[in-house]
Amino acid sequence: MDILQKPSEMQAWSKARSQEGRRIVLVPTMGFFHQGHLSLMRRAAELGDTVVVSLFVNPTQFGPNEDLASYPRNFEHDMDLARKEPVAAVFAPTPDLMYLAGFQTEVRVKQLSTHLCGRSRPVHFAGVTTVVTKLFNIVQPAAAVFGEKDFQQLAIIRRMVADLNIPVRIVGHPIVREADGLAMSSRNANLDPANRAAALSLSSALQLVRAEAARGVRATAELGRMVERHIHSFVGTAIDYASFVDGDSLEAVEAVDERTILALAVHVDGKAGKVRLIDNGFVLPR
Ligand code: PAJ
Repeated sequence: MDILQKPSEMQAWSKARSQEGRRIVLVPTMGFFHQGHLSLMRRAAELGDTVVVSLFVNPTQFGPNEDLASYPRNFEHDMDLARKEPVAAVFAPTPDLMYLAGFQTEVRVKQLSTHLCGRSRPVHFAGVTTVVTKLFNIVQPAAAVFGEKDFQQLAIIRRMVADLNIPVRIVGHPIVREADGLAMSSRNANLDPANRAAALSLSSALQLVRAEAARGVRATAELGRMVERHIHSFVGTAIDYASFVDGDSLEAVEAVDERTILALAVHVDGKAGKVRLIDNGFVLPR
């Protein structure tokens, strides 16, 4: 497994592979790998013959009061994990190499970035779309794999690729969960094990809503009240949003149908301060 730091080196590496007729598939990450990341790598190996993983905690997608400093990192352990997967190269640049002096360009998907996470994280998605565009230009993949855990991010990247004619096939991958239902996340490392029930309130709220919908409840106002009551019944939770949205437009809906997703973002008391967790899923069986 090759480890590359400089964008120019990565570009040359990819160019050489492409000229050999190889099909490169990229898995963009911010590291601190868990089974969710590893399953994206395995999926990538099914989609091509040369998997590249990028590992970059992108400073521009964190707001001023967010967890950039406390974002979990362990480069050597990540490399040990990646070496056990079908990964040909890891691209791990530094912020200085990605954002040279004078950097001033931004890629922004306007409408889709205003909903859900975009409301409380106004700079987040422009940071994501800009860095993902850079990663696509540096790694030059034929395809890239993204998790449905960040389903707004996935929708925004699909839109960006279509709008800008970027020749990269975007593949979504289902949410990987712990045995107890918690969606895997690097941020789970900052949770307080004693407060795990609070972290589980997101996935259990999804289950609750699915059960109510199966009984015929369709009004999202009513379902939303149940979700709020449920999540607030756990000590140390603060809801950022609990929204029923159309899976394509991300617009709020009043009645549940086959395309409706419950999207959740909840602050949970962690080891040192709050940890912001997200989760989502279709309300009705597909
Ligand atoms: P990160 O949070 O490290 O996630 C990297 C990829 O793993 C994303 O596509 C994310 O959706 C996916 N992922 C995370 N947890 C998952 C889970 N439990 N199941 C399935 N997939 C999961 O998302 C980012 O990094 C960044 O915003 C990035 C796209 C790399 C841009 O900086």
